[in-house]
Amino acid sequence: MRDGFGREIDYMRISVIDSCNLNCYYCNPCDNNEHCHALNILSVKEVLCIVRAATRLGIKHFRLTGGEPLLHPQLDEMVLQIKKIPGVSSVSLTTNAVLLAQHAKWLKEAGIDSINVSLDTIDASEYERITKKPLLEEVKHGINAAIECGIRVKINVVLTPQTDVVALTRYVAKKGTDIRFIEMMPVGEGHTNGVEPYKKVIGTLSKLYGEPCRINTEKTKEINSGNDKRKIPDNGPAEYYIFPELGIRVGLIQAIHGKFCDTCNRIRVTADGRLMPCLGSSVTMDLVPDSWDFADDVEKDFAIVRALRAAIKAKPRCHNFNDNAVTYTKITETKTTEIE
Ligand code: GTP
Ligand code: 5AD
Repeated sequence: MRDGFGREIDYMRISVIDSCNLNCYYCNPCDNNEHCHALNILSVKEVLCIVRAATRLGIKHFRLTGGEPLLHPQLDEMVLQIKKIPGVSSVSLTTNAVLLAQHAKWLKEAGIDSINVSLDTIDASEYERITKKPLLEEVKHGINAAIECGIRVKINVVLTPQTDVVALTRYVAKKGTDIRFIEMMPVGEGHTNGVEPYKKVIGTLSKLYGEPCRINTEKTKEINSGNDKRKIPDNGPAEYYIFPELGIRVGLIQAIHGKFCDTCNRIRVTADGRLMPCLGSSVTMDLVPDSWDFADDVEKDFAIVRALRAAIKAKPRCHNFNDNAVTYTKITETKTTEIE
């Protein structure tokens, strides 16, 4: 389904649980290190209802996130069941990989299409400073296990002035996976930190490995809204570069310095079962108005489809991280909630 600005929304991020086994300072720090947040969790049944309804609107890519999705007690089963739903093209995961070594084989067997791993440093003491947990070795094992199982992995690095771009890139190049550097966004407890991804990442790597080639993705998508009819690249939020010597793709996700909203194809579901039309806002909408106890499945399905349509229509043209004033179509019944 297209939103009000002609973008085809075909990608849903579902936060299946909002607790996390790390406590990164830019996310949602809490004093009690064990599982932050009040626990919100979506059951397999609830997620399957949401996915079925979403496929009716042409949504075909699904990414399971958290919190930390591997804390969900039935994640492997969830992936297996989502993959069976007609209209689903891909199911992916974004994880901190602490528990990935135990799950990689199951996830592969369940049909997971790819896994994005959040890893901001490969220095053990820096890892503990950022996450408050001494779990870097577990994460490395998790990454290795996923690669050994033949799962496509990408590494996400949130950029700070301390980020050791070279060390991380070398580590990832040895694994042969993609790496993406993400500009810090003012979500959770994050604050824009002035690090410019292009300067910091491409500037640093070019000195060692020469000028990179910018990848012109062969995939394009059409914008078709009023007089605005264009073909634009379809990379998701990242732009990619290749340094021939490294042989991997180095991506930049420039949330502030290079707004990627023109190509945004996403809608989000929070762990308490609400819809979030845009990452850059705390506005959420009811997904299912009253409760999950509908008289019958058809009625429930209609309710979810209706809510999804409303959220897609309400998607703003772009996030407004820069001035913090997000313009929205007024939606009934909104409330604020935290982002994963
Ligand atoms: P793929 O493109 O499928 O690999 O997924 P992804 O990169 O969107 O997923 P991931 O969970 O790895 O998120 C990485 C970063 O992408 C996030 O930190 C955000 O910066 C950005 N991002 C993800 N989803 C959205 C979204 O809905 N809107 C915006 N503006 N950015 C997003
Ligand atoms: N700014 C940028 N990226 C963030 N992430 C979490 N919080 C922020 C933030 N404030 C990253 C995680 C994960 C991805 C989904 O978002 O590290 O890789």
